[in-house]
Amino acid sequence: MPVFLFCAGIFLVVAGLYILVPVFFGPPTVPTRQERIRRALELARLQPDEVLYDLGAGDGRVLVIAAKEFGARAVGVEIGPVQCAISWGKALWNGISSKVRIEAKNFYRANLGNADVVFAYLTSSEAGRLQEKLKRELKEGARVVTVAFNFPDWEPDHFDREHLIFLYRK
Ligand SMILES: C[S@@+](CC[C@H](N)C(=O)[O-])C[C@H]1O[C@@H](n2cnc3c(N)ncnc32)[C@H](O)[C@@H]1O
Repeated sequence: MPVFLFCAGIFLVVAGLYILVPVFFGPPTVPTRQERIRRALELARLQPDEVLYDLGAGDGRVLVIAAKEFGARAVGVEIGPVQCAISWGKALWNGISSKVRIEAKNFYRANLGNADVVFAYLTSSEAGRLQEKLKRELKEGARVVTVAFNFPDWEPDHFDREHLIFLYRK
C-alpha cells in the first residue's frame, strides 16, 4: 500500500507540473498534429542545417520532425520541466540528440538572433508582445510560421487556410 501511495503521489506531482506550470506563463500544452507541423515547415522552406526554434516546445514533436525529416538543427524553448524532459527523451529515442537543444526557460528570455525559422503554436494573447520580440531580434530573411494565431501588425507572406498557418518573413 505505501508503494502504491508513493507512486500515486509521484504521478500527481508530475501531472500537476505538466498542467500547471504553463498556465502561469501562457498557453497550455496542446500538441500540434504532425501533418500540420510538416506543412508549416514546408511552407517555411526549412533547409538541412538551418536553425529552427520552437517557442513553447511542448512534447518536442516539432523538434523531432524538424531534425529527423528536414535535417535542421532544432532548438526547443519550453517553460514546463516535464515537457522539457519528455522532449529530451524523444530526441534521445529518435537518435537526433546531436541536432536538438532544449532551453528550459521562458521564451521571452531566449535569444533568437541565430534562428532561420521560428515555429509558434500559441494563442493571440501572445501575438503583440511576441511580434515585437521577433521583429527586434530576428535576422533579415528569417521566417516565422504561426499556427492558429496571427500577428496584429505584420502582413503574412502566405496564409494556409486549410491548416490555419501563417508564414512571415523578416
Ligand atoms: C500549444 S503548446 C505547443 C507545443 C508544441 N510547440 C507543438 O506545437 O506541439 C504551447 C507550449 O508553450 C509552452 N509555453 C507557454 N508559455 C511559455 C513561455 N512563456 N515560455 C516557454 N514556454 C511556454 C507551454 O508549456 C506549452 O508546452
